[in-house]
This record gives sequence, C-alpha cells and structure tokens, in this order.
Amino acid sequence: MKVEDVHNDPDIAVDHVLLTHEQIEAKLEEVARKIDEDYKDKDLLMVAVLKGAINTMVGLNAHMHTTAPMDFMSISTYGEGGRESSGQITIRADLTAEVKDKDILIVEDIIDSGFTLNWLINNLKERGARSVEVFPLLTKTARRLYDIDIKYPGYEIPDEFVVGFGLDYDERYRNLDSIVVMKPKHQGDKA
Ligand code: IMP
Ligand code: MG
Repeated sequence: MKVEDVHNDPDIAVDHVLLTHEQIEAKLEEVARKIDEDYKDKDLLMVAVLKGAINTMVGLNAHMHTTAPMDFMSISTYGEGGRESSGQITIRADLTAEVKDKDILIVEDIIDSGFTLNWLINNLKERGARSVEVFPLLTKTARRLYDIDIKYPGYEIPDEFVVGFGLDYDERYRNLDSIVVMKPKHQGDKA
C-alpha cells in the first residue's frame, strides 16, 4: 500500500514520510552490490528475525546478483508490547540451516537499543558461525545502548516511531511501501 491509502486509523496518523520507496530501494541496491563483492569467496547465510525484517530481506535479495540461502528466526522478548526492549529473550522458532562455519549476514529492519541484535550476534557466534555481520535498514542511533559494529549501515533516523516496509504498529502497516513517522491522534497517548 501507499501512504495515500492510510486512512481512518482510530489511534494514529501519518505525520510525514521519512523515506520514500525510491530511497529504500536505492539503499538496498547499494548494499546488495557490496555484499555481492564481499561474500564472493565466502559461505554466506542470510538471517532475518521475523517479522519486521522480511521486506528488507526480500528487497535486498532482489537486488543481489548472487544467490545465498536465507533463513529466519522468531524470537520473543519478555515484556514485549511496550517500546522498551529489555529482559529475557527466548527462541520461538529457530533457524533450520546449520550455523557452524557459515559467514552470516543478519538483515534487520531497525536497531533501536540494540538489545535484540546484541543477543543474536552472541548466540550465532556461540553456535560456531565463522563471521557475523549486520545490515540494519534503519538505526535509531540516539537510543543505542549496546555497542554493535555495523558493517553495512542503512539509514540513520531520529528517535521517532516509524512504520512501513516491514515495521508495524500493532501488526498493521507492514505492507506500506515507504517508511513514515506516525503520531498518536490523542494527546498523551503512546504510539
Ligand atoms: P531493540 O532490541 O531495542 O534494538 O529493538 C528492535 C526492535 O524494536 C525492532 O526489531 C522492532 O521490532 C522494534 N522497533 C523499534 N523501533 C520501532 C519503531 O519505530 N517502529 C516499529 N518497531 C520498532
Ligand atoms: Mg522486530
């Protein structure tokens, strides 16, 4: 769907478009070129955490000139629902591919505190991955709590609530083709 198609949400409204579909595609193409080059002689396994990273994973792969296996994981953070990621992470559905000796590229929708990603990087290294690198489409640098080396940076964005291109508000708007800033309709509400 396009931003023009967002109407009548009782809770939130589009404030402004942060990244157009064209800007997203340009970044995916740029990163795809680097990955094609960097992983020529490696054993690449692309890993994404469900569900937000799906669009970025598919979009990135569409621009790649080489093929690599994709795998997915579902993890839950205790206390999920609020904005703050904290506490304990459990694996809801694990990867099916063998991780040992693979050169892993984690594809993410967004790094906020970095809590989820920091956990995942350590988890994959413990399982014997040869290398683990990260491509987050978005980074909220201002909110970062964990020091993560980002080899393939996407877009840095301000500390605002965004949806679209995989990112959701209450499971909605993942299918928006751009990334937009959403604001609550009623003052005092939390997006
Ligand atoms: P972290 O563990 O604090 O880095 O949180 C990362 C996760 O929080 C992402 O994978 C998203 O699911 C979610 N998240 C963070 N910021 C936003 C946002 O602005 N919109 C939608 N989801 C977000
Ligand atoms: Mg997520």
